[in-house]
Amino acid sequence: MSTRNTIILAAGKGTRMKSKVYKVLHQVCGRTMADHVLTQVEKTAMDNIVTVVGYGAEAVERELGDRTQYVVQDEQLGTGDAVLRAEPLLGDLDGTTLIVSGDTPLFQSETFDKLLAYHRAQNAAATVLSSVAPDPTGYGRIVRNDLGMVEKIVEQKDATEQEQAIQEINTGVYAFDNRQLFEALHQINNDNAQGEYYLTDAIEVLKRQGQTVGAYTMANFEESMGVNDRIALAKATRIMQKRINETHMKNGVSMVDPERTYIDVDVQIGNDTILEPGVYLKGTTVIGSDCFIGSNAEVRDSVIHDGVTVTSSLVEKSEMFDESNIGPYSHLRPDAKIGPKVHLGNFVEVKSATIGEGTKVGHLTYVGNAKLGKNINVGCGVIFANYDGKHKHETTVGDDSFIGSNANLIAPITVADHSFIAAGSTITDDVNQFDMAIARARQTNKSGYYKKLPYSGEE
Ligand code: UD1
Ligand code: CA
Repeated sequence: MSTRNTIILAAGKGTRMKSKVYKVLHQVCGRTMADHVLTQVEKTAMDNIVTVVGYGAEAVERELGDRTQYVVQDEQLGTGDAVLRAEPLLGDLDGTTLIVSGDTPLFQSETFDKLLAYHRAQNAAATVLSSVAPDPTGYGRIVRNDLGMVEKIVEQKDATEQEQAIQEINTGVYAFDNRQLFEALHQINNDNAQGEYYLTDAIEVLKRQGQTVGAYTMANFEESMGVNDRIALAKATRIMQKRINETHMKNGVSMVDPERTYIDVDVQIGNDTILEPGVYLKGTTVIGSDCFIGSNAEVRDSVIHDGVTVTSSLVEKSEMFDESNIGPYSHLRPDAKIGPKVHLGNFVEVKSATIGEGTKVGHLTYVGNAKLGKNINVGCGVIFANYDGKHKHETTVGDDSFIGSNANLIAPITVADHSFIAAGSTITDDVNQFDMAIARARQTNKSGYYKKLPYSGEE
């Protein structure tokens, strides 16, 4: 039986990243580079996917889980040695093996499909995916003979001056006949500038044996970009961001300035939603249609329904229902459920709370561990005091109630529907339906006292 296999090379340390984080675990638009590569490989329908891990093996395995099998390369002896680690799992199989690197996050599955189709059509033993680089520095170069046939791949550090002028580069992606791949790898050596076993030398070995080797040249060099340092990481992020933003714009999302709009790869957005500059939409966020996400808003792992306005606010792991609004400068912390047509104004913080339809919380208020009903008016500077220093307690407020400004609701407490809390009250007991609760010292006016105060300026 002929099998389709992939080997993902991800054992390198990534020294040039100067990072505690292992290279392929750096993120590009909300996913690790390793995840991007694996996701595209999965789309090409493989029988076996094997990832070669080394540095940070445990972290990579935790990240990718059981979507791939793993083999360990203990010592980084080169890409050729890395592929050979997969021999115990794949060595006995007939079929084709795709090899990709974990540090090339921009590849798309269509490109892998084209390479595999070309490889099959040529009936080749090996086909390297090449592209033409405006600046080929650092990449392996494709050396062709007078007839234009691929002879070998030479690394930057081993290239003659003449070879360094070649602009056709090795993208680090290959299709091999599986059996011939492993046979060739047993014949390469590390007699080169870096003292490594180069996977690229397998091409030359097969060529010398008279096998068909070739190159499939992809049109878009950008897509093949390898990330070895932070500068390249930023470049790859910009390219992927452009791709993501253009997809949303094609689907009917407006962006005032797409170059200053930051959207993670898994985010969904409905049509006729407008995004202003400086907006970050992260993680698993879903945004509905007809929303307005104003400048410098950040929404993480949240669900925003249709017609919602978010202005210069931070929304985390929360849900906002139709036509609600928030901001400027407010914060939904995890587990806030904001009902339809709710208004949350300036400097409002909500955490683990449900707020019912039409309720207004306009200014300078903290709502924590609470259930608010419908059409409640919460005045300015209200505090839901939910914490006694040890435990969190719940507050419930019923429909159509009024919470006056600067009230403190000391949880646990229940305020019934249709009740009224006077401004400045500190409420420690439950409030019944149709009650007005007032809990503040009575005012006394001391006649003529102004003149006795130092403030009056008189001695
Ligand atoms: C490699 C290619 C080069 C190509 C470039 C494309 C070789 C010898 N060179 O160079 O021709 O132009 O990719 O981006 O293959 N790795 C291991 N174990 C090792 C060494 C590397 O798993 O012992 C992994 C790395 O983690 C990385 C990948 O292989 O994901 C490529 O290694 P890297 O050191 O980045 O190779 P380049 O110098 O970029
Ligand atoms: Ca690389």
